[in-house]
This record gives sequence, structure tokens and C-alpha cells, in this order.
Amino acid sequence: MIRLAKPWIGEDEQRAVAAVLESGQLVQGALVERFEQAVAALIGRRHAVAVSSGTSALQLTLKALQIGPGDEVLCPALSWPSPAHAVRVAGAKVQFVDVDQDEWNSSAEALREARNGNTRAAIVIDQFGNPARAEQIHAALGALPIIEDAACALGSRFAGGPCGSLGKVSCLSFHPRKILTTGEGGMCLTDDDDVAEKLRMLRNHGQLRGEFVVAAGNSRMTDIAAALGLAQLQRLDEIVARRRELAALYREAFDGEMDLQSTPAGAESNYQTFGVVLPQGHDRNAVLEKLAERGVEAGLLSFAIHKLGSFTGSEASLPITEHIAARGVALPLYPQMRNAEVDEVVRSLREVLHG
Ligand SMILES: Cc1ncc(COP(=O)(O)O)c(C=O)c1O
Repeated sequence: MIRLAKPWIGEDEQRAVAAVLESGQLVQGALVERFEQAVAALIGRRHAVAVSSGTSALQLTLKALQIGPGDEVLCPALSWPSPAHAVRVAGAKVQFVDVDQDEWNSSAEALREARNGNTRAAIVIDQFGNPARAEQIHAALGALPIIEDAACALGSRFAGGPCGSLGKVSCLSFHPRKILTTGEGGMCLTDDDDVAEKLRMLRNHGQLRGEFVVAAGNSRMTDIAAALGLAQLQRLDEIVARRRELAALYREAFDGEMDLQSTPAGAESNYQTFGVVLPQGHDRNAVLEKLAERGVEAGLLSFAIHKLGSFTGSEASLPITEHIAARGVALPLYPQMRNAEVDEVVRSLREVLHG
């Protein structure tokens, strides 16, 4: 079976994790801070706050920005549900925004048009690692706080700088399907001292300088995870370079044959996910089954979040999101994948579609 995704875990990672286990200091040791400093330096942010998942990063960010009942937050409708769920969990209303036909991210114009008097923040997603149009979005939204959901985008670059550098807070994920993994894990990046302090307080039972100042949970990262993350960080350039090579092979094969995600001029994707939108006339789930029969593990590309059970009653109609969610397929892509395996996936998909 050619797997959809596979983290690249080598001996360095195993040694790093074993050293933490041997030390007995599994949590609240020095490694989390070291991991934070390394990622902050890489992206050029003042602060990094490591947490237990990308979802926690989004939830704590909304809380730190004091977004709650009565507030509305712009959010692209095409994604894994975490960003929209985080807004709901905060008690605020999600303002779903459709995505661009080619880039599969919400455009600056779409975000600006969806904004109203109650809008308190915008979540901007670099979907599948494809950078959002950061500069235009900044210009379109003015002083409105931007939360960059860069869960998929470590190693990607906007035209003007690294993903993870946009807006008030950027959130990363280290789930095994992401570019680097810590098992579960996430991180908030910010240049704002006050927001960073709130995030650190919120991840640790609401404690600030030894006092419990608000009721909050435990969203800390373990030292086991941080050790894994630090070892993974050494591979980042190699991982991203290989992903780009593999994605280029897919692009060459499918260009003009199927809709693919395009990257804004001057920006660079890390290809966290390689998606294709199937042409009309094919049943997507049947295609996935037939690929599996041929030894290719492909998956659903993404979701139209406003159509999920968790948003029952939403009347939003977002045709591009709905089209991509209904017809999108994620193809296998991981750094250890061989070129011949890409050829095999291409051949299998063509066979399934055209016989
Ligand atoms: C765009 C986006 N945001 C947030 C998340 C949540 O990350 P995690 O799985 O680490 O909670 C994901 C995970 O798939 C994602 O794709």
C-alpha cells in the first residue's frame, strides 16, 4: 500500500526521546522552551508558546484575544473543522467565508466583504501549506486582529516572509500528518508580549506568577514531544525540499487534466497535502475505494465546515468550498516516497478515472 502520509522518524528522534525517558523529566523540563526558541527564531517571532495540539493553539489564542459571546470571527469554510470549532468553543459566531477557486484560501476581498460591525478577528488559513495572500489580507483588514492558522504551513513562504509570521498570532500543528511531528502538539507564535503571557497562563491552569488568576485547563506540551520536535526541526529543509520535488512530479502529470491548487506569485508551498479536484462525472468515494484496491491510500481532501453536523442550521452557501469538499482527493505524499511511487499513483488514478 502506498500510504497517504507517513512521518519521517529516524534514529535521531528515537535517541532524543529515549534520552528524555531516561532522564525521568517528562514534563516541565528545559526542552519545551528550547523547542519554542528554535521555532520562534526560525520564523522570526518574539514569542513561541508550545501547546498540546494545533486545535489547543487556536482555542487558547481566541481566549487570549478575549473573543467570546457576541463576537464574530471570519473563517474560511474549507478546512479541517478545528478553526471554526475553536470559534464556537469560545462562544463566538463563525462567519464562514468561501475560498478562491484556484488557491483554495479565502481571498482578501472575500474576507473584507464578509466582515461586519461585530467582527472581532479573522482566521486566515494557509490551506494544505499553500500561503495565503498575506500582504493583501493585511491591507484589506486594517487593524482587525488576524489569527493565522498555519497548522499545515511550517516551511512555506508568503511572497514577503515565512508562514507563521502573519498577524497577531499564528498557530502551528505538529500532528503526524503535518510537516514536522511531535505526536500531538501545537504552537502559538506572536510578537505581542501581553498575548504571549496570557497564552502561557492559559496553557497552565490559569497560573500567572504562582497565582491561579483564571480557571483554565492544561494544554502543555510534554518534554517527550519537544525532544521529538527539536530532532524533527533538523530535517525541516530536507523534508520541504523533497515534498516540493514530489509535488512537482504530480503537477507535471496532472496539469490541465484536473484542478490543482495554485500558489500566489512569489510564494512557496511546502505541499503538506497534494490535492486534486476530480472532474465531473466521477463518484469521489468510489474513486477512493478503487484506488485502495490498487494499493493507493488516498483520502478526502477537506470539508465544507458549514455543512457539518456541528454547524447544523447554517444557511451559508459557499459554492467553491462545497465543490472542492465534494470532489477533492488528497494523494499520497511524504518525504520518503519514491518517484516511482508517484508514477504508480498517477497511473492508478488515470486507470480508475478513464479505465
Ligand atoms: C488547517 C488546520 N487547522 C488546525 C488543525 C488542528 O491541528 P491538530 O490536529 O494538531 O489539533 C488542522 C489539523 O488537521 C488543520 O488542518
